[in-house]
Amino acid sequence: MTNDKPLRLLQPMKGEPWDIDAYITRGGYEAWQKCVRENNPDGVVEELKRASLRGRGGAGFPTGLKWEKVLHHRSDERYFVCNAGEHEPGTFKDRHLIKHFPHQLIEGCLIASFTVNAKESYIYLNAEFEEERSNFEKALVQARERGYLGKNVLGTGVDVDIEIFDGHGSYVAGEETAMLESMQGRPAHPKQKPPFYPTDFGLHGKPTLINNVETLSHVPHILRNGAEWFKEVGAEKTPGTMLFSLSGAVQRPGVYELPLGTPLRYLIEECGGGVPEGRKVKAVFPGGPSFSMVGPDELDLAMDFDTLKKAGTGLGSAGVIVVDDATCMVAHTLKLSTFFREESCGQCPPCRIGTEHLEGLVAKIEEGKGTQEDLDKMLQICGFVKGTGFCTLVTGASVLVQNSFRLFRHEFEAHVANHACPFNPAAEVVSATG
Ligand SMILES: Cc1cc2nc3c(=O)[nH]c(=O)nc-3n(C[C@H](O)[C@H](O)[C@H](O)COP(=O)(O)O)c2cc1C
Repeated sequence: MTNDKPLRLLQPMKGEPWDIDAYITRGGYEAWQKCVRENNPDGVVEELKRASLRGRGGAGFPTGLKWEKVLHHRSDERYFVCNAGEHEPGTFKDRHLIKHFPHQLIEGCLIASFTVNAKESYIYLNAEFEEERSNFEKALVQARERGYLGKNVLGTGVDVDIEIFDGHGSYVAGEETAMLESMQGRPAHPKQKPPFYPTDFGLHGKPTLINNVETLSHVPHILRNGAEWFKEVGAEKTPGTMLFSLSGAVQRPGVYELPLGTPLRYLIEECGGGVPEGRKVKAVFPGGPSFSMVGPDELDLAMDFDTLKKAGTGLGSAGVIVVDDATCMVAHTLKLSTFFREESCGQCPPCRIGTEHLEGLVAKIEEGKGTQEDLDKMLQICGFVKGTGFCTLVTGASVLVQNSFRLFRHEFEAHVANHACPFNPAAEVVSATG
């Protein structure tokens, strides 16, 4: 496998993003035409399995396997939903794809919907994505005008359509079972898995294929160019490219497409231009705030699902957040603990209560009012709540605190010993007078 830096999903296009001719010029809708004319769903699934495409929404589940489960389900009432919820801090690659490459996504959605013979198909679109929605709608209109979707697609007698569903706008609503609940007018609460996998019990209790925006955007390229082409770049077990949302302490934050397995250092230094103003990397979240941070001595880690898992962290949806050495890690942990507390849907008591306690204790320590007992309590709560809950939110909240304490214990202890934040002398004045 080569380690070139090819652009597949982010190939520059001339014209407006919704311009269908610009997309067709670079081979757009060829895969869809072939699919709908050949009508060989098993062949499509086999190609995705051969490509070893894994979901880009966070869990990295093998895409072909998921499509196969829905395609061969005994129920003949199936649904398809594209997950465009994207509400995690530091992840913004899906909105980039929708805004700049809407036809690529539409083609992926059409292929998915047709392959599993969905009765209805939706894109669950974050309601805050206004410009993205507008571009997507304009692209849908053009695709409809050309006969690529709607009734009797390209004269084949096939009917396929995609409806936009206004997303709930919360982090948990992006979790697939919570998303389906909110689509059915109920609170966006996750369900227990097993048994409630959407491939068996999805929309209206029927098998439902759910895929992330980026996963679906890869599909037309794989079917047009073949699985072997897809595997020309990337890691052994996770080939292909992935979009990395790079943010935090870098000179050039943005969305970068790189082969899976690219070293973290390359993303930060070559793509992001390194940390600004001569500061140094203090820590990096390679997979968003729900996965452990890595330290500056781990920047040569290869960014793929398996390597990061082995290193005790994860790739998630590749929201890479860089933290510089001017940052107080207790304050940083507090900011993210607040996010988890605010985003807990409140359904599972360990999550509802645990995220509240964790935020409270980290806040107390950050203010310089914490004690050694508070540190112990904080770690104890992490142990209690980890792995509980119907989704992974509370696990993310506890991993954040545990990992931050493991890497930056001295900072937590300095807050307790000095009754102040060592990074913020103003806090000392407050604690000395208060
Ligand atoms: C709290 C939480 C939030 C999530 N948010 C999203 C999201 O915004 N978009 C997304 O595609 N997947 C999200 N996921 C993952 C989905 O549950 C699901 O695994 C994914 O949509 C499946 O698509 P894929 O197989 O193409 O990755 C989230 C998961 C959790 C636990």
